[in-house]
Amino acid sequence: MAQDYVWYAGLPFPAVGYNSEVIKAAHETLVLKDEDILTVTYPKSGTHWMIEVLCLIHTKGDPKWIRSEVLFDRAPWIETERGYQLTIDRKEGPRLLTSHLPIHLFPKSFFSSKAKVIYVIRNPNDVLISGYYFWGLTKLAKETESLEQYFEWFMQGHVPYGSWFDHVRGWVSLREKENVLILSYEEMKKEPRNTIEKICSFLGKVLEPAELDLVLENSSFQAMKENKMSNLSHMPEELIPADIKLIRKGVPGDWKNHFTPAQTQAFKKTFQEKMAGLPAELFPWD
Ligand code: A3P
Repeated sequence: MAQDYVWYAGLPFPAVGYNSEVIKAAHETLVLKDEDILTVTYPKSGTHWMIEVLCLIHTKGDPKWIRSEVLFDRAPWIETERGYQLTIDRKEGPRLLTSHLPIHLFPKSFFSSKAKVIYVIRNPNDVLISGYYFWGLTKLAKETESLEQYFEWFMQGHVPYGSWFDHVRGWVSLREKENVLILSYEEMKKEPRNTIEKICSFLGKVLEPAELDLVLENSSFQAMKENKMSNLSHMPEELIPADIKLIRKGVPGDWKNHFTPAQTQAFKKTFQEKMAGLPAELFPWD
């Protein structure tokens, strides 16, 4: 039986591994440290990929760590039950952390710290399709009957972590802050080397060209698909059936294989209304 949601501050969260007290604690009392590095995304935007890249930058491309520790434990999701505990127990820095929280529920301590956030944006049409194949088919959130139904839920923000439009609007408002780097899934795909260099420069790290090659090689779609520590294959079958793949297609534009012309139009209209006034370069897709 699929679960529904955990609700906090009017937003739906996945039903497994979350509770409202922990989300509240992550928001109100969790203390972020200046040396913390956080990957923040709306789900299905390339979160796991960014974490893999950050872990590999940390080890200068050596894959030993990414092949021996589950990705979730390397970079815990601060608002989940297990991730919150791992975060507060982790004494050695710098901590690699992860969150899908919208800006208004993000740890308050962030706003007076130098902790670094990398926020990854992805074409929401692709986020919707990726979410349909994940949330819609796993037992982590409300079960979906059809893509048509999931499309409606997504547009209304009735999916895990609420509205994509609100999430992105909130986070990109911090784009001028020195400790926030906004990147897109699409630029990671198009120019992976440049993007990794950008991340290194943001983090104040220098990699040799050969180390950078290793980061690229070990964070490729194929390498991640095969890495049991990163592809969620360790999750119980009753939550994520074996045929549901987190590392699924890994390409921009898969939405074109799914949306009807009417959905394409409706999405475009909503996007234009909700994202009005934001610079087009924030959204580097067609
Ligand atoms: P698709 O479902 O479109 O294939 P998240 O980690 O935020 O849940 O995002 C999952 C999406 O990122 C999936 O998209 C997945 O295939 C894609 N992804 C994961 N690792 C990737 C990689 N190394 N290269 C490209 N895409 C990747």
